[in-house]
Amino acid sequence: MAQKAKFASKIGLVAATVGSAIGLGNVWRFPAEVQANGGAAFLVVYVLCVLLLGIPVMLAEFSLGRSAGTDAVGAYRKFSPRSPWWLAGALPVLASYLILSFYMVVAGWTLEYFVQSLSGALYAGTADASGAVLDGVFRDRMREYICGSSGPLLNTYALILLNLGVLLFGVRKGIERLSNVLMPLLFVLLLVFCGVSMSLPGAADGLRFFFAPDFSKITPAVVISALGQAFFSLSLGMGILITYAAYYPKKTRLMRTAVTVSLLDMMAAILMGVVIFPAVTSFGLGDAELEGTALVFVTLPEVFARMPCTQLWSVLFFLLLLVAALTSTVSIAEVSVSFVQNRFRRSRRAACLIVLLPLFALSALSALSFGSLSGLKLCGLVFFDFLDTLATNIMLPVASILLCLFIGWRRPGVLRGELSNYAEADHRLQRPVAFVLRWIAPALILIVLVSGLL
Ligand code: PFF
Repeated sequence: MAQKAKFASKIGLVAATVGSAIGLGNVWRFPAEVQANGGAAFLVVYVLCVLLLGIPVMLAEFSLGRSAGTDAVGAYRKFSPRSPWWLAGALPVLASYLILSFYMVVAGWTLEYFVQSLSGALYAGTADASGAVLDGVFRDRMREYICGSSGPLLNTYALILLNLGVLLFGVRKGIERLSNVLMPLLFVLLLVFCGVSMSLPGAADGLRFFFAPDFSKITPAVVISALGQAFFSLSLGMGILITYAAYYPKKTRLMRTAVTVSLLDMMAAILMGVVIFPAVTSFGLGDAELEGTALVFVTLPEVFARMPCTQLWSVLFFLLLLVAALTSTVSIAEVSVSFVQNRFRRSRRAACLIVLLPLFALSALSALSFGSLSGLKLCGLVFFDFLDTLATNIMLPVASILLCLFIGWRRPGVLRGELSNYAEADHRLQRPVAFVLRWIAPALILIVLVSGLL
């Protein structure tokens, strides 16, 4: 019951879901994907994926979670006992665990940048005598850091411990409350940075790259990346929204919640693009070796270095990003924790340890991917990128197809009831959503998946 009380207020409920959605996916992963996949063409496909597939799949997760009132595997079990459908709930648990393992690493980079901003080390010696920012200095710093061993490893470990602390000592509510205050501030900061970025010389080229689509750039690989990004960013296909919705009050309107969460999440990503791309073209960073993965960590300090009160903006931004990352890691971890707790009947404390301790080994492999383990390649990708691609571009879409089929065909009554909050009249959008979940979403996701893999 205490759990139920957590989401008693409407704002609390939407905010916690937004808190899970907004994170490094928007700030770090989105710009990197846009850059790797041809700019505006990717943006167009991504927006379509969020609107046409993301929102219906989110509604399916919400409906399943709220009506079952338990974790992802339990939810499938409840509605389809003694059938292999539970596997459809196990897949997201596995995917979310893999994601958690490399997400901790990027959260660790954020911690490093926060600490270095605070101490001033990030900006020390980066300007010449006249105060002009030295060429490529932040790129070199990031490269040195990310390719090192002890830095990324220690920060990743610090993040795992931080998560353990939050989950074990029940300060999760506090973190969520903190994030409710800080997330609007993150939007305000992004707006300020958008203004600064757009006034840089050469900014127009960056905006063109981000907003003027060249449709010939759309390939199956671009579409699958856009789909993966949309699902990653909305926290879909990982069981997290099933787990969260289990705590939603019965009167919450699911459609309104799904639309609000999706639009806010998309807005954060697009604002981030407006911050990054003008800066990328203005500073000539487009062809940096570490493009993609390290893009944001190379570009943002360049922007801050050109603003008055550099250190203040930098500290504030990386602090907010750290909190955003923490609300996301805690929510991802919750998927596995509640799974272990419910399925293996463990205490919460034991479940937290069972989930987080193995990360000291698994996350280490990702943390060292760009340094001492850069020679370890799977399917031509370093370990970090391999896990990201496997979990995001393959496992999330597959989990989502299964969810759509389950809700669309096997338990359509769940969606009908939940969308209308069990009122007499059907929800006006119930039919179109059910149609999308039955036919459009599974077919489209499958086509994207297969063509992307071929
Ligand atoms: N959606 C989060 C982000 O964009 O950073 C990441 C995330 C949170 C993924 C929760 C998965 C999850 F279950």
